[in-house]
Amino acid sequence: MIITTSRLFSQTRHLLLTPTALSRRKIMDVHIPPKLVVTTHNQYKTPDHLTVDNVRPQPLDQFKDWFEAARTTVAEPEAMTLSTSTPSGVPSARVVLLKLVDDKGFIFFTNYTSRKSKELLENPNAALTFYWKEVSRQIRVVGKVEKVTRQESEEYFQSRPLGSRIGAWASKQSSVVEEGEVQERYAKLEKRFGEDSVPTPEFWGGWRLIPDEVEFWLGKPSRLHDRVQYTRQNAPDSETPSWTIRRLAP
Ligand SMILES: Cc1cc2nc3c(=O)[nH]c(=O)nc-3n(C[C@H](O)[C@H](O)[C@H](O)COP(=O)(O)O)c2cc1C
Repeated sequence: MIITTSRLFSQTRHLLLTPTALSRRKIMDVHIPPKLVVTTHNQYKTPDHLTVDNVRPQPLDQFKDWFEAARTTVAEPEAMTLSTSTPSGVPSARVVLLKLVDDKGFIFFTNYTSRKSKELLENPNAALTFYWKEVSRQIRVVGKVEKVTRQESEEYFQSRPLGSRIGAWASKQSSVVEEGEVQERYAKLEKRFGEDSVPTPEFWGGWRLIPDEVEFWLGKPSRLHDRVQYTRQNAPDSETPSWTIRRLAP
């Protein structure tokens, strides 16, 4: 059922009336949409300390240290929220998987005709967010993206399981489809490729997010969290990137 805002208003308006006024009105048949109240007050605590003096000079090295540590306890540490935006500033966010961290930045793979890729082509500014509940850690990255080379995309694509390779061909990611349409296309492609190798689609590949800002967050009791932020000081293509490292208020 679709509820228009004016109907929703008329359903909830009686909440503003006094009990006497309420008793005079027939409201028994009115449905009041329940509120969702979330009252948990999680306390974040870790024995670790994060300071500007105990982090590595380069944020990518700090990220690798935290990622290696998270691997032992966090279910899927490579899951990260990628935020993009249209040129006029309308944001959108979704989870993608980190596949590689090289000396320049963070690499993930996707369909180049998807909503995220269209937005990235028009506006290369993007952000990544990791949240690792098990270790009370968050990492935020802001920067610009570039496409990885064709060779890098092919190398990764060919390392994927067969089903994922066919799936990439079957899905025109982010387009509107009929129920079962993608599965049908997948079945046809499965037959067509048969025993042959599955080529890397031209419309599929990797993006590298080159950071300008990286923040490490460690959860502490009473919301007195540790936050350490790196801000890039020189051009992203300089040989030895230099960073300002500062503590931020929680
Ligand atoms: C855990 C998880 C991992 C995902 N990994 C990827 C990924 O690596 N690449 C990708 O294109 N979509 C991935 N997705 C799907 C995206 O969240 C999203 O639905 C899809 O990319 C379409 O987004 P868009 O329409 O904004 O382009 C993943 C989703 C989840 C929940």
